[in-house]
Amino acid sequence: MTHKSLFIVLDGIDGCGSTTHSQLLAAFLEHKKHFKVHLTYEPSKSEIGKILRKFLKNKEIPPTTDALLFAADRDLHYHNEIKKKLDDGFIVISDRYIESSIIYQSIQSDKISIEWIKELNKFIGYPDLTIILDIEPKIALARKNEKYLEKFEDTSFLDKVRKLYLSRAINEGYHVINSDDIIEYVQEKIQKTVLNMLNS
Ligand code: TMP
Repeated sequence: MTHKSLFIVLDGIDGCGSTTHSQLLAAFLEHKKHFKVHLTYEPSKSEIGKILRKFLKNKEIPPTTDALLFAADRDLHYHNEIKKKLDDGFIVISDRYIESSIIYQSIQSDKISIEWIKELNKFIGYPDLTIILDIEPKIALARKNEKYLEKFEDTSFLDKVRKLYLSRAINEGYHVINSDDIIEYVQEKIQKTVLNMLNS
């Protein structure tokens, strides 16, 4: 049995399937490939993460406040959970991470630059592999119940979010996988990308 730490992030617009695919990937690596796997997500399960989940239903929260809280949540998440698991030889899979802040918070205000987001997050460790799941916002939101939509779940906002994810993916060398397809097929592509990284 091999134990190799690796930090993987799945990210993308709301409804892209990052939660489902993080769970399927974790199960595959743990049960089929026998790695030690730690699955986590952001906003995290910390007290700051819980406040952030409430704020996702509140349009009155300034994007700057969101940016500061997401950074605080991530700093805690990284130092108290992710880093420890990586040090113990786990593969850590996070459903969302700093890329979500860079995209979602910077798009909402001219005051918020990508550099400022990076500065706020400067004490965290970065993922070894970031996979962006790409899907058209209209299709992504069609999967959700309109009554329970959160503040970012709006097609025209998510169009901008998607564009920025895709342009940054090219510049940053992230893997982009089309998630508007049969779940098993999308998952297989994710698994192949991860196995290539583990074998490299
Ligand atoms: P999700 O749990 O359904 O992925 O929802 C999380 C929401 O939080 C999603 O709309 C993206 C948003 N978000 C940010 O705006 N900034 C962040 O840093 C993170 C982690 C999430």
